[in-house]
Amino acid sequence: MFSFDPYSPSVDADPFPAYKVLRDEYPCFWSSDAQTWMLSRYADIFSAGLDWKTYSSAKGNLMTELPNRAGATLGTTDPPRHDRLRGLIQHAFMKRNLEGMMEPIGNIARTAAEQLRGNRRFDFITEFSSKFTVRVLFAALGLPLGDEQTVRDKAVLMVQSDPLTRAKGTEHIAAYNWMQDYAARVIAQRRENPQNDLISHFSTAEIDGDRLDEREVLLTTTTLIMAGIESLGGFMSMFALNMADHGEARRAVAENPALLPDAIEESLRFNTSAQRFRRCLQKDVTLHGQTMRAGDFVCLAYGSGNRDERQFQNPDAYDIRRKPRGHLGFGGGVHACLGSAFARIATKIAFEEFHKVIPDYARAHEQLSWMPSSTFRSPLKMELLVN
Ligand code: HEM
Repeated sequence: MFSFDPYSPSVDADPFPAYKVLRDEYPCFWSSDAQTWMLSRYADIFSAGLDWKTYSSAKGNLMTELPNRAGATLGTTDPPRHDRLRGLIQHAFMKRNLEGMMEPIGNIARTAAEQLRGNRRFDFITEFSSKFTVRVLFAALGLPLGDEQTVRDKAVLMVQSDPLTRAKGTEHIAAYNWMQDYAARVIAQRRENPQNDLISHFSTAEIDGDRLDEREVLLTTTTLIMAGIESLGGFMSMFALNMADHGEARRAVAENPALLPDAIEESLRFNTSAQRFRRCLQKDVTLHGQTMRAGDFVCLAYGSGNRDERQFQNPDAYDIRRKPRGHLGFGGGVHACLGSAFARIATKIAFEEFHKVIPDYARAHEQLSWMPSSTFRSPLKMELLVN
């Protein structure tokens, strides 16, 4: 009998064969392992993303939710509270001004790439993507230098879950608590001494007299550290993996960096690091002959929708000339990723610099070890060989 277990190491390693069975045979499937309905077809996921009144995020959006997050962050609230938070946070992003970040991001990427010069073999994650994402995030949020490695390690632990208990283990919760204490200290410093950084802007963002309250500033900061480090770093390693595995695409992109934006879009479709998010039903819904009940959890398997042959031709091919409009790599609907513009630009700049130093590379191992996470998907380590 078919089963789908989002906590299983085989799904971490390769969810795509199971996604295909889900889409073709069980498009609305009750996963008893996750106690969650699985929606796997593009059209169903897309519609659910728009219909927040039925598919609510207020009970959390991570497949294995962190304590105390539901109802207080952008990703874990419904309109109108969500729209209020989104407006205030977007306001802070606008003030920080993405254009002004381009030069510092370029410098960070160049330094990290130059440190690799002469290496014949290295771990892309520890030696490049982690260094890059942590430094970029520290610059954007205005975090004090010195704590980079610990913050990165805690952010990565926060999104993992225990494959045996299927819940957050003590080390994951401890990492989350550490991050909240850390964020609280930085917020207090920024309140006393505001700078041109995102945390200072969140603390003071105001629309029509409305401001973020203490808990919102704290959890928004914690969530952005997690998204900025984990989602961006995870995606960069998936992009490097696609480049390593598809020689023709890599050569084209390394020779002509103007192709990077299209290659990045195709990677967001082909294997985004943000695979599965969760909603809670507000009313009974019957779909493909199955009745899901109010109060049930529903997983939107973005990674599967992106491989749906009903939406994308030849979806299992990685084709950088495809221009995959409407992919679900950044989700969709009211909760579509707020950091998407930032993530696209940061990835583009990072690989422009990386390819200047290392244009030709392959992965050192066929088998990779994957992060244990029911929501995100990226390798824990990825050694590259320089050709
Ligand atoms: C390539 C890297 C990234 C990927 C693949 C990604 C993916 C996603 C996805 C799929 C969602 C939707 C979650 C849901 O449906 O519940 C989301 C939401 C979000 N992301 Fe990202 N993300 C990335 C980078 C970032 C960065 C760098 C930031 C911020 C600095 C960020 C901030 C957010 C926020 C705040 C939300 C919640 C938006 C809302 O609920 O209105 N993300 N992201």
